[in-house]
Amino acid sequence: MAGIAIDTLSQCRYVTDITSTVDNLHWIPKSQDLSPALLRLLDIAASIRAAYDGTTPYRKIELLKQPITELSQLKGDLATSKLAKDAPLFGSITNKWLQIIQDSRKTLEEEAANSPEIPNVYLAGNALLPNDAKERFKGRQDIFREIENISLSAQPPVFLLYGRRRAGKTSALNYLPRKVGSNLIPLFVDVQNIASFTSYENIVNSLVEQITSSAFTARNLILPHANADAINQDPFAGLQQWMSLVEKKISNKRFLLCLDEFERFEEVIESTNSRTLLNFLRHVMQHRPQWILLFSGSHRLNELQPYWSDCLIGTRTLHLTYLNKSEAQELIQQPVTNFRDIYGADAVEEIVYLTNGQPYLIQLICSCIIDHLNREIRQSQIFRKATRQDVRDVVSTVFEQGEGYFVEFWQYLSERERIILRTLAQQGTVDAPDQLIINKLVQAEIIRQNNGNLEFQVPLIRSYIETLVEFRI
Ligand SMILES: Nc1ncnc2c1ncn2[C@@H]1O[C@H](COP(=O)(O)OP(=O)(O)OP(=O)(O)O)[C@@H](O)[C@H]1O
Ligand SMILES: [Mg+2]
Repeated sequence: MAGIAIDTLSQCRYVTDITSTVDNLHWIPKSQDLSPALLRLLDIAASIRAAYDGTTPYRKIELLKQPITELSQLKGDLATSKLAKDAPLFGSITNKWLQIIQDSRKTLEEEAANSPEIPNVYLAGNALLPNDAKERFKGRQDIFREIENISLSAQPPVFLLYGRRRAGKTSALNYLPRKVGSNLIPLFVDVQNIASFTSYENIVNSLVEQITSSAFTARNLILPHANADAINQDPFAGLQQWMSLVEKKISNKRFLLCLDEFERFEEVIESTNSRTLLNFLRHVMQHRPQWILLFSGSHRLNELQPYWSDCLIGTRTLHLTYLNKSEAQELIQQPVTNFRDIYGADAVEEIVYLTNGQPYLIQLICSCIIDHLNREIRQSQIFRKATRQDVRDVVSTVFEQGEGYFVEFWQYLSERERIILRTLAQQGTVDAPDQLIINKLVQAEIIRQNNGNLEFQVPLIRSYIETLVEFRI
């Protein structure tokens, strides 16, 4: 089996040969006792493929940085005693791949330099990952400082990181290891990956796997192996045993266990019809001072099932809200360093106004503006800066491209909330509204009171609701 894989990898002459190995060799089980160099090359092939899926030459060049670094590291390891025994088989493949990719990158760089088009550097969609998104992540310094200071205090409380959809919760957790000192080890668990499991053994194994891989990503730490038999016999006892081993190995630091989308534990609680999982979390809070829990989600305590209050009582809430004006301006004008000056001052002002600093909407609107300007550049070969009118012109495209976000926002509301928002969008005021609903909409950061008047916090949301009214939805 390894023989076939090695033949395929060594026959690559062009980038397309490398990227097609991902499909051609997907049947090889990675758990097999394959040589580490082979495993690393298979992974590198996958990141090369992801890079060539990039939308523009600029984006491809950016995404190629990682596999090029990994190939260079592999080349280095093959030359030293680390992987010396793999060198005869894999040395020449690695060198050849490196050459192919570097040549292709040169061609992409020429393409990018010769193109008058503006590189579309904005990332609107998935959570930002530091290795890829780099300095595109803006703001949130106050949250990082608070997490760090409180986590290292004598008796840290449990954290609740609260932010509405696409406020940047997962991105903030992804950047945490770079933003807090080395005495704190952030460990990331995506509860979404656990929600569908119905057996505690699978849940615990997934927890151990996610914690282990995130300790490595965050701090290059290799955690001890968990005892599979113990987990099989009594999953949570096995997990506790493993946590003790981890504590023993790293006794002088604290772990910040970040449970992203923690609300989805409700699915486990429902499907197992038991609160064992909550009891486990409570036990960790009370008896394991080295572990600090951070629950991240888009619901406030009063919007959750009542059984959470036991677990989350006395939590320190960290509120992830809109970016402030200067952070928003930085995201617009300097998403990456040395970004070309493509906006007129009125355009920046309009984007800040329409989005009120909502980071996803800023990235989306800016990405649509670049597409809009590039279309013009392709037609006339002339570059001009974006104006307020350009920003207004792309709003309908923003609604199309961000459909998932807007539709989800609307579906999440109750019928009575929708009526109030529709009326406010159409008439600019609402007569004798139900105060409870208003409070809820204010709490959800959709509207605010301003001198006794109600207004939308994000004018783009108001425009979206206006389009719904137009189409009588
Ligand atoms: N601090 C930030 N700086 C720049 N862009 C950001 C920031 N935070 C979020 N974004 C933008 O918002 C998008 C969504 O971010 P992310 O997935 O982290 O949000 P989330 O709150 O976890 O969303 P969800 O509630 O859907 O899980 C990103 O793709 C990015 O465009
Ligand atoms: Mg998220």
